[in-house]
Amino acid sequence: MASLLPPFFLLLLLLPLPLASSSSYPYGNVSLHIDCGSATDYTDSFNTTWLSDRFFTGGSPSVVSEPLLFRFPPEKNLRSFPPLSSGKKNCYVLPALPSGRYYLRTFTAYDDYDGRSHSPSFDTSVQGTLVFSWRSPWPEKVARRGAYSDLLAFVLDRQAEICFYSIATDSPVIGSLSLIQVDRLSYDAASIGERFILVNYGRLDCGSEQWGPGFTNDTDYFGRSWQSDHDFRSPDSKNNVLVISTRSTISGANQQPNFFPMKLYQTAIMTREGPLDYELEVDAKMDYLLWLHFAEIDSKVSGAGQRVFDVVVNGENLTRVDIYKEVGRFAAHDWHYILKNLSDTTLSVRLEPVVGVPSISGLENYALVPVDLSTDPEQVVAMRALKDSLGVPERMGWNGDPCAPTSWDAWEGVTCHPNKDKTSLIIYQIDLGSQGLKGYISDQINLLSNLEFKLKFFTGYSSIWTWGKCSCAIGFIRQSVHWLNTRQSCFFRYATCAIE
Ligand SMILES: *[C@@H]1O[C@H](CO)[C@@H](O)[C@H](O)[C@H]1NC(C)=O
Ligand SMILES: *[C@@H]1O[C@H](CO)[C@@H](O)[C@H](O)[C@H]1NC(C)=O
Ligand SMILES: *[C@@H]1O[C@H](CO)[C@@H](O)[C@H](O)[C@H]1NC(C)=O
Ligand SMILES: *[C@@H]1O[C@H](CO)[C@@H](O)[C@H](O)[C@H]1NC(C)=O
Ligand SMILES: *[C@@H]1O[C@H](CO)[C@@H](O)[C@H](O)[C@H]1NC(C)=O
Repeated sequence: MASLLPPFFLLLLLLPLPLASSSSYPYGNVSLHIDCGSATDYTDSFNTTWLSDRFFTGGSPSVVSEPLLFRFPPEKNLRSFPPLSSGKKNCYVLPALPSGRYYLRTFTAYDDYDGRSHSPSFDTSVQGTLVFSWRSPWPEKVARRGAYSDLLAFVLDRQAEICFYSIATDSPVIGSLSLIQVDRLSYDAASIGERFILVNYGRLDCGSEQWGPGFTNDTDYFGRSWQSDHDFRSPDSKNNVLVISTRSTISGANQQPNFFPMKLYQTAIMTREGPLDYELEVDAKMDYLLWLHFAEIDSKVSGAGQRVFDVVVNGENLTRVDIYKEVGRFAAHDWHYILKNLSDTTLSVRLEPVVGVPSISGLENYALVPVDLSTDPEQVVAMRALKDSLGVPERMGWNGDPCAPTSWDAWEGVTCHPNKDKTSLIIYQIDLGSQGLKGYISDQINLLSNLEFKLKFFTGYSSIWTWGKCSCAIGFIRQSVHWLNTRQSCFFRYATCAIE
């Protein structure tokens, strides 16, 4: 399925900008920033400390070919995962996290760091769910200068697992990773649930330049950055808008659970006349969460009924907005909506005037990516133990979840399928026949005991063991004697036989 998806990423161009206060992530207890490929820690001009590269499973550090093109030091280093030496699948596993919800931002650049003039194809997953698909060739600007992508995901098992999967022997690359804890109930999680990852397809502050942690000194409690809406206005709207702004306090900003920053509401755009149109790129056949932000900051509007407009999305009239009537002046008013199974790759948002001209402060759009099945946790433990005990080499890429995402191949030599009630993935075959591995079978292997499970370690022997069915092969090497002794009980915990 992965290869059918168009590239899933968002370009946040880096613009030089003015400043404000410091302390950018005051919400949660976790704000972790990793400068991938870097050997040293570094504190940037926003007082964010970037940790030297850590928590990765393999790969090698590099630097972009033209460091002067990049404004921020963490963008210049990168880590790549050449599949021939590191395996097809590699991960960052960030440990010891409080259970909760997190904002994850990645920076990805190519800039011909390897001198091959070939931007790579690869996929990225978070918690075993495919979130980004990079396909060669990347747009020129992205390949040269890189791009930020971000999302919101739940981490319920204490570690965040960000994995990269090589396509066609290309080397995945990553420049930096930031993980910031956010409110569990934000973005309507109470009704949407915890089984979705929200992938950013546009987070716009209308009438503003790009700002937010990592780009400016401005504060956003969740670490979100906000892009200018300029490039997303439809051609007709581009020359038909006025920017309005205020320094007044906006009530209702910075409040639980979303902590939308006050700065978001302090600028807005409105049309000179007629409707205001935005066009956002999306991937068809997916569901999107659209969030619109309003505040009446225009001194000419002094009562209800003076600015009224309809929100029309993909031609469908969804709601009527009268900001003043809802919240009065200098107050935040938000509206959100879930769009199901989009049929087109453009999402159009039109503000259609009813009285006066429409105005808007911000707009967010997230793909609602359903969390994929993951491997039964006990089997993950068993497989990791098997990996250690057999000394599975790095080039086999036994990293992250053995089976997930389902759209990727499982660990090399491993075959998985969903369990009966389709709530998790289980392993039903391990074939290491061609790998010539030596080692012993760990005690933990008994965690794999309740399934039909074949293990074949050596080619040249007719030695497929169907453990779950207790029909072990005969005529195997001498250690199988030990095995055969225990076959009746089918308990693998006794099968600690060494393999020659
Ligand atoms: C951060 O840690 C403090 C002290 O352990 C705790 O009281 C607080 O609830 C935590 N905040 C979040 C957002 O988890
Ligand atoms: C951010 O603020 C700090 C001090 O508050 C200042 O030293 C630094 O130059 C500012 N950074 C930028 C990029 O404006
Ligand atoms: C920078 O961060 C450190 C701790 O993270 C803090 O003690 C210090 O006051 C901050 N400096 C500024 C200028 O915000
Ligand atoms: C659009 O929908 C809103 C609420 O659903 C309704 O009040 C309004 O009259 C509709 N506008 C038009 C032009 O039909
Ligand atoms: C999504 O829409 C397409 C047609 O555009 C339809 O074929 C498909 O069944 C729909 N999927 C779901 C899950 O509703």
